[in-house]
Parts: sequence; C-alpha cells; structure tokens
Amino acid sequence: MREKLKTSELVKKMLAMGLTRQQSFELVSRFCGISKNEVLLDREVQEDNCLDAAMQVANGKPLQYVLGEWDFCGHRILCKEGVLIPREDTETLVEVAKKHLKAGDSVLDLCCGSGCISVALAKAGAKVSAVDINDKAIELTKENALLWGVSVDAQKMDILSEKTDKVFDMIVSNPPYIRTSEIRKLDTSVKKYEPRNALDGGDDGLLFYREITKRFFENLADGGMLIYEIGFDQREQVMNLLEQAGFKNVTAEKDLNGNDRVVYGVK
Ligand SMILES: C[S@@+](CC[C@H](N)C(=O)[O-])C[C@H]1O[C@@H](n2cnc3c(N)ncnc32)[C@H](O)[C@@H]1O
Repeated sequence: MREKLKTSELVKKMLAMGLTRQQSFELVSRFCGISKNEVLLDREVQEDNCLDAAMQVANGKPLQYVLGEWDFCGHRILCKEGVLIPREDTETLVEVAKKHLKAGDSVLDLCCGSGCISVALAKAGAKVSAVDINDKAIELTKENALLWGVSVDAQKMDILSEKTDKVFDMIVSNPPYIRTSEIRKLDTSVKKYEPRNALDGGDDGLLFYREITKRFFENLADGGMLIYEIGFDQREQVMNLLEQAGFKNVTAEKDLNGNDRVVYGVK
C-alpha cells in the first residue's frame, strides 16, 4: 500500500516530472477516483498507481493511453494502444452528420478506429455499421458500443479491396490522410505509439478519398450523404473528387480552430 498524499502534493510532483497541469489533474482524478473539482479541494488520497502513470506520460506515452479513456462528443471512449486516439477535430464530422441525420437512418462508418464516431451517431439514433482493417479497432468499437448501450455492427474489412452489398442513408469516414512523406514530421509520441496505418494516406494523402468515393458510391442511397474528415489543406482536392464523382451540394466545414476539416456531398 502506498502513502497517503494531499492532491496538491501529487500535482506538484507531476509538474516537476514535466507534466502539464491539465495532464496532472486528469491523472489524479482518474487514478485516485475523485472528480477534477475535488483535486482542487486538496483532498488526501491514496497515491496507488498515480505516480507510475505520471512517469509513463513524462516518458512520452500519450495521456489517453495511460488513462485508458478520453472524452469525445460528451462520451467517455475507451482508448487502447494499437488503435488511434479520438481527436477533438473529429467532433466536427459528428456535428455535420447529426445535423443531416433522420431518425433510424442507416450509417456506414468506414475506418472506425475506436468506434468514437459510430457510438456518437448511434447515440443520436442512427443504425450504425462500422468497418476497419485492424482487429483491435473492431474489438474496441464493440467494447465502446457496449459501454454506451448502443448496437454497432462492427466488422473487419479492408476497404481498399473488399466491399459490402448493403445500401446506407449516410457514409462517414475519417480515413488515414497524412501524406507518406509527412509522417516522419509528426510528434514523436504519435509516431511511437499510434498505429501508422491509421495515419498514412499514401503519396498525396488522398488514396482513401479516391478509393472510397469510387468503390462505395453504389453503397449510398440516392439522396444519401457522404461525409469525410479531411486534412486542413485537402479541401479543394476532396471537393473536386466528390464533384467529379457526381455528388451534388458539395460543401466544406471548418473545425473550432478555423481549419477546413469536413467535406460532404449528396448523391
Ligand atoms: C484516422 S483513423 C480514424 C479512426 C476513427 N474513425 C477516429 O476518428 O478516431 C483511420 C482508421 O483507418 C483504418 N484503416 C487503415 N487502412 C484501412 C483499410 N485498408 N481498410 C479499412 N480500414 C483501414 C485504421 O486502422 C484506422 O483505425
């Protein structure tokens, strides 16, 4: 059994390890089983694994993997190494999808990762199917759906070579979209801990947009919507791809930081 410490002392030790205040509060709250407000109240807590966890973060492991969960669209989503951590940027795609969803619409989430988008849309009333090439992602999507009490039909699929016969009212995707040459410039912790095949979008970053727009066109109902998350500099190219494929009302939306983040169109 470890010693009892005041939360202020714990936070001080973590700041000395190089963690930020936000990281320290997240860890103390999670590992000591108290709210972040209680951390501020300087409660006396059993230290348990808190400082070991802080050491992992100090050594570069993403906080989300150490916590094992992260907030996405108001839902706590389980995070595991080997599966991409949900990003705040992706909440823009969910907001756009929710604006256009009708009750009971069927949605296909291509490249589902942790299932964060699938869960948020299933919670909004959609019937969601989700696919990913990564076994761990499929397992985690199922776990997250179970945690939130929603049904998501999650199946392993390589979307570059396999297909489904089903037709959906909406297709959403946050595919890998970083140019291969840019991967080496990413933060060390992203490169070291997050799966490369969740990031690599080929030479020009557009491989998945090209393939999905072509290969899954017939899986979208007439009048259905295809919604992509995009990289901040891919708006024009992805809009062109959709227009060339015959999509109408092709539109782009910015994220909360003012970067182009979503492109969508109607079949
Ligand atoms: C950018 S991540 C997005 C994950 C999740 N949708 C999110 O927003 O956090 C891209 C996902 O694409 C998956 N992926 C990569 N290549 C794939 C392929 N050929 N077929 C299906 N999924 C693939 C990766 O495993 C990864 O989970």
